[in-house]
This record gives sequence, C-alpha cells and structure tokens, in this order.
Amino acid sequence: MTNNNIYFIANWKMFGSVKSVNSLSKVISYSKIKKLKAKIIYCPPYTLIKYFVDKTKNSNIEIGAQDCHAQPNYGPFTGGISSKMIKDLGGKFVIIGHSETRKENDNKKINLKIKSALSEKLNVILCIGEKLIDKKKNKTKSVLKKQLLEGLKNLKNLSKVIIAYEPVWSIGTGIIPTENDLEKNISFIRDTLKISKKFTKSKILYGGSVNAKNIKNLMRIDNIDGFLIGGASTNEKIFIDIMKKSIN
Ligand code: 13P
Repeated sequence: MTNNNIYFIANWKMFGSVKSVNSLSKVISYSKIKKLKAKIIYCPPYTLIKYFVDKTKNSNIEIGAQDCHAQPNYGPFTGGISSKMIKDLGGKFVIIGHSETRKENDNKKINLKIKSALSEKLNVILCIGEKLIDKKKNKTKSVLKKQLLEGLKNLKNLSKVIIAYEPVWSIGTGIIPTENDLEKNISFIRDTLKISKKFTKSKILYGGSVNAKNIKNLMRIDNIDGFLIGGASTNEKIFIDIMKKSIN
C-alpha cells in the first residue's frame, strides 16, 4: 500500500483533558510535511471537540465525534448529542457502531444513526468486527455481512461512509490478525459492498492494536485504506512515529 490519501483516524475514547489539546501542536506540524499524503482525523470525546476544532483550524487535520444520537436534530433525550450538534461544533466525522458502544446499539439503531449523520452531511466511520467467539466458531464472515447489510440498509449513497474493520478481540489487546486473515476479511467486506454498485468506492480501514511496531507490516496489505487507532493515537510521539513509519 502507498501512503497516498491513507487515513489515520485517532479515536481517543474516554481519554483526554482540556490540557491535552496542546499535544496536537506536534502532530499539526508533522501533518504539514510534504511526504505525508495522509488524511489525519481526530475523534476526541464530545467535551473536547470544540477545542480540537479551534486548535486545528489552520491545518488539514479534521475532527469528528465518537458516536451520535439516532435523532438528527434536537429533542428531549437527556444526555444525547445529535449529529446537528456535532456539525455545529465544527465536527466533520462521526464514528458509529464501535464495538464498545454496540451493547446499547443494535444494527437497526446503528442504521438510524448513520442516516442521522448523513442528513447533517457528516462523514461516517462505521465500525464492524467479529468477537473472539465468532472467530472461533468460523462465523466471522456472517457477522461482518450482517453488520454491513443491516447497518447500511436503504442507504442510497455511501460516498460519505468509511468502513472500519475492527475485530473485537484485537482492540486493546496487542494482538492483530494475520496478514492472510486481514487480507481475506477486508476483501470479503469489499465484495459484500459491491453487491450494490453505489458502494464500490468505500474506503476500508483496519483498527485494533495498531502501533509503531506493527504499522510496517500492516502497510504491506494492499487493500487497506488506512487505520483507526485507539490507545497509540493519544500519545503524540507514538502517533507521529506510526505515520513516519508508514512512509519509510
Ligand atoms: P486500540 O488501538 O487501543 O486497540 O483501539 C482500537 C479502537 O478501538 C479504535 O477504534
């Protein structure tokens, strides 16, 4: 894989404080180097979105949220954050269906959330991935297919939808799939999307324990369009190191 237009999406999960916004300075400077043709996107907690948007104003780094409510506008939903609110803060992306949120979100709700985000013209990062038990029972493909088809049901245009393949057993464990399995599963996702011709150009990312040690191997896999990175993205040195190693 070349590093042209590959995505490095930082999912900060429930980490970060107002102070940690300062740590973006180094990444902002690094993002300006010519050799790096990547797209860098930060998805901090809701509370930090506005700080991140302001801090990255004169850079090509973009900001997103980690989830949104299924209702796109406003409403009596205590604790809810809508896609309209994310857009209002300057967010351009939203992660939907992350495995850490799937307990409260079935595919039907995920589908509604995607529709709500698209109605506000946000870019969606739809996370899909099998659990360890699915993998052991050889159910990976059927799980991925169900998550994709139900999550994307009745969507006419996927130009603003990125798929992130995140095997649940790989998140935060330091374990990543074999090159062969990863290639196979990404191809399977691509083939499943091809069922509808509108979906053929979707970007497909990999997420799960991406770090500065394994990025070179992961870059060898041809059909991945980038990475969704958790823990390693919250440390600016490591995040930059990952990006550096993607071009060497
Ligand atoms: P880690 O990179 O910490 O394994 O997390 C991956 C992830 O869940 C990104 O969304």
